[in-house]
Amino acid sequence: MKTVKIFLSEKDMPRKWYNLAADLPTSMLPPLGPDGKPISPEMLEKVFPMNLIEQEVSQKRWIDIPDEVLQLLTIIRPTPLRRAVFLEKYLDTPARIYYKDESVSPAGSHKSNTSIAQAWYNKKFGIKRLTTETGAGQWGSALAFACALVGLECKVFMVRISFEQKPLRKIMMQLWGAKCISSPSEETQAGRDILKKLPDTPGSLGIAISEAIEAAVSDTSGMTRYSLGSVLNHVLLHQTVIGLEAKKQIKMFGENKVDVVIGCAGGGSNFAGLSFPFIADKIHGKNIRIIAVESAAAPKMTRGKFSYDFGDTAEMTPLLPMMSLGHEFIPAPIHAGGLRYHGMAPLVSQAIVEGLVEPLAYDQVKTYEAAILWSKTEGAICAPETSHAIACVIDEAKKAKAEGKEKVILFNFSGHGLMDLVGYDKYLTGKLDSYSLPESELNKSMESFKGFPPAAKRKTGKW
Ligand SMILES: Cc1ncc(COP(=O)(O)O)c(C=O)c1O
Repeated sequence: MKTVKIFLSEKDMPRKWYNLAADLPTSMLPPLGPDGKPISPEMLEKVFPMNLIEQEVSQKRWIDIPDEVLQLLTIIRPTPLRRAVFLEKYLDTPARIYYKDESVSPAGSHKSNTSIAQAWYNKKFGIKRLTTETGAGQWGSALAFACALVGLECKVFMVRISFEQKPLRKIMMQLWGAKCISSPSEETQAGRDILKKLPDTPGSLGIAISEAIEAAVSDTSGMTRYSLGSVLNHVLLHQTVIGLEAKKQIKMFGENKVDVVIGCAGGGSNFAGLSFPFIADKIHGKNIRIIAVESAAAPKMTRGKFSYDFGDTAEMTPLLPMMSLGHEFIPAPIHAGGLRYHGMAPLVSQAIVEGLVEPLAYDQVKTYEAAILWSKTEGAICAPETSHAIACVIDEAKKAKAEGKEKVILFNFSGHGLMDLVGYDKYLTGKLDSYSLPESELNKSMESFKGFPPAAKRKTGKW
């Protein structure tokens, strides 16, 4: 009988987070303020607590996980590493396919790895409430859950299209004590401005971020901060427990190497969480392909520009060096709400520029096909975001068969899709098309870059 899952015990949990910034061949470019000059950590103080800002700017390779955070993380970790033997059999591939199952947390995805850490650091700093955005609803649920654990109030601005597609997510957030509002809303100036200009907008993560930041910084008590579910360095840092655990578990399966590492990428956090510890190996000479999979509806890594850009629509964030489609980009209302973001995390963007990560884009028909094949062979119903990684895994496994090679493929099963069945229903009833961002819309959205400094010269042929 083949082994199909490896569990770790609590004592095997990583005690430190891994910071890729310490190992990237080129140092990271700094975020810029409105005057075009690098911002100081103090300029972020109204938005984030200083203990998280310190992590954001840290160049240390390893950062200790406080004991109390580790104890809270035991509710969701360690997660199993599983082998997809039934999918392998169906594909008749010599590849061995492993996946880190992050769907087993109460909120349903990897997002709790950082929501728990962020809620704890905010509480420690004396903060009373957090605001945030959510696309698919996974991040909002994860933060609501974490705030309930540590005793913080929580307000979530949920992108309108997801708010309508996934009403059950709102109930989950309410169960954990959070308030969930459809974005754009009448609660903020940023929301009111957008509603005036585009009353029927499906909303976007960029707009919801603007609203959540405004709601935090305009609280005169000074006791509210904003929390982001992806993109920033400290968020990606908290996710690295995924890859660090996976490294131990893959050895326990008897594998002494990994050939391909795959993750879907919206703002970059689950991809980073699994892949960064493997990127470190690649930097130190190991031959590993590392693939980040985005939606063809929001193709910032494959068709965007590496430039300074705002992280939100209303231009409230600093300018970040990232691959972007322009901060005014409003993506089509695809069901993978967590991939509907205009930019990619600076650390992931930099790793792409360095040639360490290969970006690929998949359309929603191909990804739903992959998700359904997965559920028929492996059982689990995946989140629409996760299905992008699975589509790529299937292609890589087929390639291994064509080449007659015994490859080891590892991917991040970032979340379950039990709250996303409306999207599956649309697919099953033939209501989804294979949408890719048209060239004309790409060009229009790229106009919002006018006057922004390019982030760096492209290093690889592709960029
Ligand atoms: C299940 C799942 N996977 C992936 C993502 C993409 O986000 P990130 O790139 O930060 O992992 C999301 C975002 O909401 C998600 O819910």
